[in-house]
Amino acid sequence: MNATRIVLPALTILAIAATVAFTQTPAATGTKDPIARGRYLVTAMGCNDCHTPWTMTAQGPAPDMTRMLSGHPADAKLPDPPAGSEAWPVSVNTTNTAWSGPWGISYTANLTPSKAHGLGAWTADEFLAALRTGRHQGRGRQILPPMPWPMISQLTDDDLRAVFAFLQSIPAIDNHVPEPTPPQGR
Ligand code: HEC
Repeated sequence: MNATRIVLPALTILAIAATVAFTQTPAATGTKDPIARGRYLVTAMGCNDCHTPWTMTAQGPAPDMTRMLSGHPADAKLPDPPAGSEAWPVSVNTTNTAWSGPWGISYTANLTPSKAHGLGAWTADEFLAALRTGRHQGRGRQILPPMPWPMISQLTDDDLRAVFAFLQSIPAIDNHVPEPTPPQGR
């Protein structure tokens, strides 16, 4: 067999592979793979900062990705938060998941597909409605600070759906986040 006959088809296959790889790589610009796009948005928009419990590592505090996006740990034993003052109204605990302020104490939600305690029983439409209206599933109680839903609501429908698709693809963690504590004597 003549070498050109082998080399040419091989080059063609390489060229096709390169085109496919190129068109699939920029998750940032294409919505062809919603899960990749969702992963990109969740990572860049800092959802892990608040929804993944932080732990101390050799490099300093960092989100514990073994508990990715599972929210405030149900087993965390917390003393009462310090009383806020007018100048310093907000406190946050060491896992970065419990927030005390004039709204009481809010605990970051479990965004994993756990059916009992996360977003496993939510539809994509409920997720969109929640982030557009700032209400639980788009119809329940108000979502409290510091959840930055007014900023997240600026995403397009396709991007919000991609975020939801990614969140539904991650490991489900059955962590039961407590209900918020109402403000006391404020
Ligand atoms: C600055 C911290 C912070 C960041 C960043 C943040 N969240 Fe939240 N989020 C919260 C808190 C706190 C709550 C719980 C509020 C409450 O209980 O009312 C919450 C609640 C939610 C809820 C509501 C769940 C429910 O049961 O109603 C969804 C959905 C959500 N966050 C998604 C996201 C997504 C997606 C991102 C990233 C694009 C994100 N959050 C980034 C703090 C944050």
